[in-house]
Amino acid sequence: MRSLTIPTPERIILVVEDSPQIRNVIARALMMEGYIAHQAGNGLDGLKMLEKVTPHLILSDVNMPQMDGLQFFQAVRKNPAWTTIPFIFLTSHSSAEAIQRGRELGVEDYLTKPIDPHDLIKIINARLYRTAAVEVAQVGQAYLDTVKVLANVIEGRDHYTRGHVERVTTYAMWVANELNWPLQQLRMLEFGGRLHDIGKILIPASVLNKPGRLTDDEWGMMKRHTIAGAKMLRDIQHLHGTLPYVLYHHEKWDGTGYPKNLRGKEIPVQGRLLALADVYDALTTARPYHTARKHEDVIEILRKDSGIHFDPKLTPIFIDVLNKRRAQAVAQKKT
Ligand SMILES: [Fe+2]
Repeated sequence: MRSLTIPTPERIILVVEDSPQIRNVIARALMMEGYIAHQAGNGLDGLKMLEKVTPHLILSDVNMPQMDGLQFFQAVRKNPAWTTIPFIFLTSHSSAEAIQRGRELGVEDYLTKPIDPHDLIKIINARLYRTAAVEVAQVGQAYLDTVKVLANVIEGRDHYTRGHVERVTTYAMWVANELNWPLQQLRMLEFGGRLHDIGKILIPASVLNKPGRLTDDEWGMMKRHTIAGAKMLRDIQHLHGTLPYVLYHHEKWDGTGYPKNLRGKEIPVQGRLLALADVYDALTTARPYHTARKHEDVIEILRKDSGIHFDPKLTPIFIDVLNKRRAQAVAQKKT
């Protein structure tokens, strides 16, 4: 049973209940499950307890002397430090009105007395698991938001590539989904796709937006954006998985790419996939040195370059996915 629950030997639960017998039953069940139970006899004592210790969850009776459960809940939610603590009400069958009132105030979980210790543990574990899952999702979203800001910085400097990183990421994600990449890899692709040109921040705007041909020196400067980007990101632990995208999206299957002249499968698959998405988007949109080309023409270019610039196994998959998505988009427009 324990192995199926969250490993939480130091998780603290605050139990607010005026009946010492019920409190003890609950506290015992919690301790058996590895939780630390702090106890209070009413809402006021509960608030005093909260000043000393911040629990991971509050379990509170509704009907109590001095300060009842609803008043206690409202007081808890008023304090910004306590607003996110999960809250479960203990109610009796006769307190339908209190349940309704609690719902209006935002209480999500109820447990009806008499308490079955087994149900109690199940509900607490489920609630803590849900809270942890939400926290993980929020942190993930925060990471993504930060990455988007960084990506916008690149695009803000490079007038011709507006929307480029979003589209490149989308194309690569379509293919990665088709290939059933694991979730963690998809997550890194979301970040890596957006950050792949981050090193361009260091390239002077005059070079970045130059409409004519680049000199050898300028071209050398441009090429350094892969290694420069990787250097910028390498110390950020949670973005380590983006380095293959940043470093290798300009490598070519025949070994003539940069920065390392890697050849064939020496190039990490992340780089091989992003190369296709990057070139497809570059050619289908207008740049200083060319106008936007038609999807069909670009597909033909990719096909011809398969085994030269691009991975010969990945290229037909990329083309299939792009064709399929395009056909879907056209069909949707018609309806
Ligand atoms: Fe690039």
